[in-house]
Amino acid sequence: MSEKKVIFSGVKPTGEPTLGNYLGAIKNWVALQDEYECYYCIVDLHAITVPQEPKDLRRRSLEVLAQYIASGIEPEKNTLFFQSHVSAHAELAWVLDCISYMGQLGRMTQYKEKSQKGEENLNAGLFTYPVLMAADILLYQADLVPVGDDQKQHLELARDLAIRFNNRYSETFKVPDIYVSKFGSRIMGLQNPLSKMSKSGDDENDYILLIEDNDTTVRKIKRAVTDSIGLVKYSDEQPGIKNLITIYSKLSGESIEEIESKYEGQGYGKFKTDLSEVVVEGLKPVREKFADLMKNKDYLEKIYTEGAKQAEYVANKTLRKVYKKVGFIPR
Ligand code: TYM
Repeated sequence: MSEKKVIFSGVKPTGEPTLGNYLGAIKNWVALQDEYECYYCIVDLHAITVPQEPKDLRRRSLEVLAQYIASGIEPEKNTLFFQSHVSAHAELAWVLDCISYMGQLGRMTQYKEKSQKGEENLNAGLFTYPVLMAADILLYQADLVPVGDDQKQHLELARDLAIRFNNRYSETFKVPDIYVSKFGSRIMGLQNPLSKMSKSGDDENDYILLIEDNDTTVRKIKRAVTDSIGLVKYSDEQPGIKNLITIYSKLSGESIEEIESKYEGQGYGKFKTDLSEVVVEGLKPVREKFADLMKNKDYLEKIYTEGAKQAEYVANKTLRKVYKKVGFIPR
């Protein structure tokens, strides 16, 4: 058995991953891969809580796997797999559904936002989604879950469910800790810097995709909303510029102070031009490697097949324990 602590995290393939997913989550995973035993999943079961075109979902799921690897997550060191390949996720979710309170699920911000928008497809999956997420994490006895700021509430639920189950049936699950980077765990939209950059947004100028043409990225940065103050300053009064400085700093490694003093007395034009270069250069290796990987589907298949085997072994061990504790007759 490995002595390393365990990490679980995932991205749902509902749309193309954005710079928000990359800076808020994937980039941190890369940094953690040596120290931890990591399970990085493509959470396709979660994706169908909103309507999906089957062939697009298939393509995107594979692309997300390629983007993990292209971002620097090494398949030799980590377990990379599709959630739907390990049936224990759905099975544990059912058991956890049965100890989840409707009231608590109804208070989940993401659900509330979607239901308040009056979406047509307000299905039961969308409501119980955070329980499936808890199952994902608890199956692997994860110590740590590196996510962006928007997933904090879901993580709290996962912790609650672990504690509730342990209290009711005796110690079974590790209670996971959340890992959110201190800075840049919420990348905001380029057009609306008051709400998070999201792949489900309608305005394509609001987000930068991890994989897109460099020219498109440059154009979107040029169009990013700023303000009339005219100072490159990290301030709440300037949410657009604050967000762009965050992106600049996360990708260049330069501190906020360094960036502020570099652009003192200069307009937004020069700052945006330089930021475009920082983003394009920062994402260049990811974009190049992604293109190569997508030409080698056999390699990707080998990775996810092997990944599912490893994940299944660990997940089934936890599931067997759970089934026994709740009173199911062992096979
Ligand atoms: P998802 O697919 O929406 O996002 C994947 C990861 O990216 C982070 N993220 C962001 N971080 C910073 N700024 C942003 N604008 C931004 N947008 C997204 C998210 O916080 C997340 O870490 N429910 C999850 C997927 C999931 C999961 C899990 C995560 C399912 N099971 C178990 C961890 C553990 C989700 O929808 O993430």
